[in-house]
Amino acid sequence: MSEEPNARTSAERRPSGGADNKAFQKAGLALLIRFHVLEKLAKIHDPKNDAFQEQGRALFESLDRLLAEAEEPASLRIRHGALLLNGVRLKSSLGTYPIFRSVMEELRRRELDAVTFKPGLTHDELFRFMPIFARRERKEGSPHARLQAEIDAANILHVGVEKASALESPSNLNRSAARIFFLSIVHLKESFRRNQESQGINVHSTRRLMQSIYNHIVDNESFVFGLTNLKNHDEYTLNHSVNVCILATALGRRLGLNRGELVDLGIAAFFHDLGKLETPLEILNKPDKLDDGEREIMEQHPFKGAEKLVLLQGSRRLPLRAIHVAMEHHIKEDLSGYPRYFDKADVNLFSKIVKVVDFFDAITTKRVYRAKVFTRSEALSLMLEQSASEFNPIILKAFVNLMGDFPIGSLVALDTGEMAVVFDLNPDPKLALRPTVKLITDASGNKIDGDVVDLAERDPATGRFARTILGALNPAEYGVEVSDYFLAQAQ
Ligand SMILES: [Fe+2]
Ligand SMILES: [Fe+2]
Repeated sequence: MSEEPNARTSAERRPSGGADNKAFQKAGLALLIRFHVLEKLAKIHDPKNDAFQEQGRALFESLDRLLAEAEEPASLRIRHGALLLNGVRLKSSLGTYPIFRSVMEELRRRELDAVTFKPGLTHDELFRFMPIFARRERKEGSPHARLQAEIDAANILHVGVEKASALESPSNLNRSAARIFFLSIVHLKESFRRNQESQGINVHSTRRLMQSIYNHIVDNESFVFGLTNLKNHDEYTLNHSVNVCILATALGRRLGLNRGELVDLGIAAFFHDLGKLETPLEILNKPDKLDDGEREIMEQHPFKGAEKLVLLQGSRRLPLRAIHVAMEHHIKEDLSGYPRYFDKADVNLFSKIVKVVDFFDAITTKRVYRAKVFTRSEALSLMLEQSASEFNPIILKAFVNLMGDFPIGSLVALDTGEMAVVFDLNPDPKLALRPTVKLITDASGNKIDGDVVDLAERDPATGRFARTILGALNPAEYGVEVSDYFLAQAQ
């Protein structure tokens, strides 16, 4: 955890002056969009197709201009969760983020750090390269080596593909994300213990941990999301707090918060239920409805949490907003809930973010007092129904978008009779119902360690989609522990 993954490296240059950089960003974004669209078209069409030809020409023009201006190879590089064009970081926005993510996923899928187009690139080479790059096949061996062999065989001389460094390889990223997840639980447990024994919490370590969680979300969002399906850790509050922290950080990122704010938000979310340390376990784990007295004690946890955090604040670099979040995460949009506030404007933005993800994680987790555990999709639709009174509508909308129609970790039934777990969302909003899934049973319902398949893939013979989701299933009803499939990816 001592690395500082956001530090600039030699591969990343500082953009030159204002106007130049603006023009570069604009041209860079246009190039990225063309690359993305052509890659998508290459998946479903032959290069003779009109749409492919048109987009192909547009991308070639963009590249040709860049090669002429820069007089050096044009490289599209992935570095610490960002995309660099000729060493300059391209800036994404809420609207363009799905494209950035999709291009990064495609590079990672092929185990690449960079694709480089060299001066002398011809139109025909680009048209031969894109279908090879876009092709999906799951054979044994290194995806990079296979791609390189195909490029050589197609006599493409002016496109280079650079192999990903071991650190950025998918299995290393997954392993490291899983490690951070469990480290967070251990750290929170230790913090709770120290707090109980009136020793200080090491907020400095919490901050380091949050920076690391932030970096993992940037690098590997879908896998980190998958980990939030882990619900079976014996100590509910610990597991819940780590999930809330991850989901809040990812949501805050979509809402446009910067890195510093996201680290603070992560810390605030991490300690949101600190006050529950004071709530007796008989009340926390009571299977029946709480009586008035017990409810009153339960509803004290925001005050108790805020109190503890006030004591911690001082010199310990604890963000002030953590105190707000502890205090305000049960206040509803219509100001009902607890504690009583009288003006919406007094409720901190961070508290409204944590409110959404806290509710989501709580109702998707089995608890003795909860008659029904909601699947991830059911939880989102319930939350949308209650949106006007319970949640800030804009934050909720961003959350629903972030999770997708079938959120990562959903168990789904396919029209082939197979069952699958959603591993990653489709970044193209038109294909939102076609995520990438891992097959976990065959058509007869026998458990298998199946392939990871993209539901946007079509059967080459018929041109139809090979598999389609019929609906979400409740993992508890089928005895499926979704988190196992994510942890298996980290081994
Ligand atoms: Fe709470
Ligand atoms: Fe909570």
